[in-house]
Amino acid sequence: MEFPVQTANPVKTETSCLVVPVFKDGDLLPTAAKLDDATERLIGQLIERGDFEAKLGNVQLIPFAPGIGAERLLLVGLGERDKHREGAFRKALDAAFTALAQLPVDDAAVAFTDVPLPERACGWKARMVAEATHRAVYRFDEFKSEKAPRSPLEQVTLLVSESGDSAAAREGARIGDAIGEGVAYTRTLGNLPANVCTPRYLAEQAEALGAASNGALSVDILDEEALERLGANSLLAVGRGSAEPSRLIVMSYQGAESPDDAPHVLVGKGITFDTGGISLKPGAAMDEMKFDMCGAASVFGTVKSILAIKPKLNLVFVVASAENMPDGRAVKPGDILKTLKGLTVEVLNTDAEGRLVLCDALTYVERFQPASVVDIATLTGAAIVALGHHATGLLANDDDLALDLLEAGTTAWDRAWHLPLWDEYQEQLDSNFADLANIGGKPAGTITAACFLSRFADQFPWAHLDIAGTAWNSGKAKGSTGRPVPLLVNYLMSHAGK
Ligand code: BES
Ligand code: MN
Ligand code: ZN
Repeated sequence: MEFPVQTANPVKTETSCLVVPVFKDGDLLPTAAKLDDATERLIGQLIERGDFEAKLGNVQLIPFAPGIGAERLLLVGLGERDKHREGAFRKALDAAFTALAQLPVDDAAVAFTDVPLPERACGWKARMVAEATHRAVYRFDEFKSEKAPRSPLEQVTLLVSESGDSAAAREGARIGDAIGEGVAYTRTLGNLPANVCTPRYLAEQAEALGAASNGALSVDILDEEALERLGANSLLAVGRGSAEPSRLIVMSYQGAESPDDAPHVLVGKGITFDTGGISLKPGAAMDEMKFDMCGAASVFGTVKSILAIKPKLNLVFVVASAENMPDGRAVKPGDILKTLKGLTVEVLNTDAEGRLVLCDALTYVERFQPASVVDIATLTGAAIVALGHHATGLLANDDDLALDLLEAGTTAWDRAWHLPLWDEYQEQLDSNFADLANIGGKPAGTITAACFLSRFADQFPWAHLDIAGTAWNSGKAKGSTGRPVPLLVNYLMSHAGK
């Protein structure tokens, strides 16, 4: 997708469709006003006659517009001016681009950087426009005999009224374009069924990203033999009941001036299917456990974005991948595992498998002496109980890191919420037979899962993102969301050198 920036008079802009945001009350925004003047008050009259109500998310196509360079106009309601904030702005964008993606147009021009938003400048709005474009044209129909109609959209021109804003708009669109591509990739990996998307498939994705990166990304895959030699018994135990072999996938990106700069590390949970194992899950909605690799998928999506943005940073991306199945060889309740760190774990529930693969991955990344480590995991159903489907759960052993991630999520509009990781919760993991148990009982399941991980994250500033509620939608709109790629890219970029 191309996102050129234009500061010329919108009346002359030659485009297949010009998208014009309109508030419910007050004067037209600068671009709309110019178009209105050039079209004998076309926009103003439609509003006055009640043919277009500028309610938030309403759209109205005007299929021809004499007197201006555009072939069509698409009016988009912004709702009430006083109530207009980031959430409303994004709703308007989604409505506009969803409508645009249905039209037979391969180019459009949009006037969204005109829209006043407290504390958000032109670059932020441009970023959101690019992300919304990618969201709207996304399709996943690989397995349908009849394909969904595809939008021919290839170019979205950003109309900017203040010429001083054009550099910021261009940079915003560049970042948003990269995030949009990363999100789409994450969605596709998440949506793929578990008979296609296996640990070996994810390893192939890493190899392919490395091969296409012109040397920017080096890839190291640890197979079961290598993991055995290493002593990653906890990770291996999870995949023991599966015919699909487990993998630890390591991708390194060196973009900093010095190769010695401590890297920021992301670690993704890549359970390509979670049956629960011997502690078998109930059957209802079990298909959704193909999404149990969405943490891993968000790491891959972030890699894709980073390769497009090319920040001056050193980064390491790790994916711990296995399939959790019941079987004669599967790990059983009561089994005791020796982790890579040396701590022993009593497996009281084989369905608490995410933490068992992540703990060894967290120990593995000690070797990079990281500046920070963030893991991303669909770890607990309890995160959905606590936060629903809007906020990602955030827990950390370092308050500065937690604040950085909260801020990144707010800026990206991919928000997280901080939960406590107090010592008082740790005793819920006491085991009669091993150093710790892999479950902490009913109360505060999201927190005790993070407590478990924290025992393996004592060598670096670390945070954990529980995306059980945010990584995918259920019901009619079932599908992967691509979250938290926008949060992660914003977070990493906030550390980038110029
Ligand atoms: N992948 C699940 C968590 C999950 C469940 C995410 C449902 C989204 C929707 C995880 O592996 C799991 O099974 N967790 C258990 C932990 C419990 C056994 C302590 C859970 O949440 O029930
Ligand atoms: Mn599970
Ligand atoms: Zn799981």
